Amino acid sequence: MEKEAVIKYKNDDITIVWKPKMCIHSKLCWKQLGVVFKPAKRPWVDPKGASTERIMEQIDKCPSGALSYYNNKEEENIQVKTENIVEVMENGPLLVYGNITVKKDGGEEVVKNKVTAFCRCGQSGNKPYCDGSHTKINFKG
Ligand code: FES
Repeated sequence: MEKEAVIKYKNDDITIVWKPKMCIHSKLCWKQLGVVFKPAKRPWVDPKGASTERIMEQIDKCPSGALSYYNNKEEENIQVKTENIVEVMENGPLLVYGNITVKKDGGEEVVKNKVTAFCRCGQSGNKPYCDGSHTKINFKG
């Protein structure tokens, strides 16, 4: 099984976790908190660029779940306890909130938590997940 790329950025309170393959390039993070999320810079995340509370608030808005965080004093793999909610994004993916298990063709099972974005446009290079391709093809639906 291919290991998922995970990049971490730490401040005194939390560790920000970025999973690039999950990112659907909604741009919410850098449009709403550009002092922390700077796509033109390397590293692109400055975990000390704003208060921890403000960073957590912004990460909670990440529609794909590519950005997440955990308290440095807690375990990394805390499962998010939420009901499963399914949301259709206009002209974009299907978002499933909550802890789910995705069963693939070969029997492989992948546990997802927080938010999982599934492709609705059929053009993702990372099916069944959305990879942001819907914006390139101007998907309507
Ligand atoms: S819906 Fe996003 S790539 Fe298809």
